[in-house]
Amino acid sequence: MTELSQAEKSEGGGRPPSMRPYGRHVLICAHGDCAPSEDGRSLEQIFRAALGKRRRLRNPERVKVSVVDCLGVCEGGPIVAVYPDGVWYHHVTPELAREIAQQHLIEGRPVEPAVFHRLYPRERPPAYPPAVRGDAGTYREEDGLEALSAVEEGAAPDSVSGAADWNEQHTEQKMVRSAKRIKKGLVIVNTGNGKGKTTSSLGIMTRSWGRGLRVAVMQFMKHEGARFGEARAAEKMGITWLGSGDGWTWTSKDLDESAERARHGWRRAQEMITSERYDVIVLDEFTYPLHFGWIDVEEVIEWLRAHKPWMLHVVITGRYAPLALIDFADLVTEMREVKHPLALQGIRAQPGIEF
Ligand code: FES
Repeated sequence: MTELSQAEKSEGGGRPPSMRPYGRHVLICAHGDCAPSEDGRSLEQIFRAALGKRRRLRNPERVKVSVVDCLGVCEGGPIVAVYPDGVWYHHVTPELAREIAQQHLIEGRPVEPAVFHRLYPRERPPAYPPAVRGDAGTYREEDGLEALSAVEEGAAPDSVSGAADWNEQHTEQKMVRSAKRIKKGLVIVNTGNGKGKTTSSLGIMTRSWGRGLRVAVMQFMKHEGARFGEARAAEKMGITWLGSGDGWTWTSKDLDESAERARHGWRRAQEMITSERYDVIVLDEFTYPLHFGWIDVEEVIEWLRAHKPWMLHVVITGRYAPLALIDFADLVTEMREVKHPLALQGIRAQPGIEF
């Protein structure tokens, strides 16, 4: 038998060196560029409280929590990474942190809707057995745990079989809680005959931009060469701004061309939606091609249902939003005109206020 080298002995008798001294290790960016560093610090406190005694267990059941310097993403923070699973979360709120602690760090199931990056394909997580990962159910009575978690309320199990029963009993309760906490990209519709449909969507654009989200706007009906104030602002902010229109229908000289431009705009919007390059996409005046029948609303809905990335927000504006679209959307607002300066005083649209 071959003599082991000193290096091999020190690495555990020739076995591959372990890269996982802890069951799981949660790393929280507190660098301050992706989010205020206090956010990262307060998430640390939340994780520590939620994990309770799990942080002091023997390895590999131990779950370690660390605040670290920049994790290299630098946008959409606070950023949290979980190892050895190689799963990353962004926009981690206190609620999401508690959910990650319970569902991912304790039960071993990543919070799928909130995952924005993973080092392993979803269907092929790292092949460490649950006992090594420290998933729920591997705890022994001698560990002296009185509770599986400080996150969830209710009676906690005192044995492995107790953990299974407890999990079963609380599944429904957890599903209700998960539904309340779920995060998803919304389909938002601003419709109605009042002013403010586009303006509201541009408010979302600005707010998202301020949060470091990636925003794009596709304008359907306004002339693609129009340089309204919002387009100028977007240009200064570095926001993608595209137009597909040739003016309003009542000024359009060729409705066939208007329809074809709208269909072309929808094809470009589809490319933007599936590109994964954006977090928020505004489809301004998109209800008109749907209302005029240039684009089939049912096909649009089916396509969005099948292709819209889970966390992408899509904002659609314009009058006459079809009922099917209203049914499909998550958030619908109807702007209603109460008073208008043109109708009452003959004051025409003014730059900075209406365009
Ligand atoms: S500053 Fe947070 S990931 Fe870089």
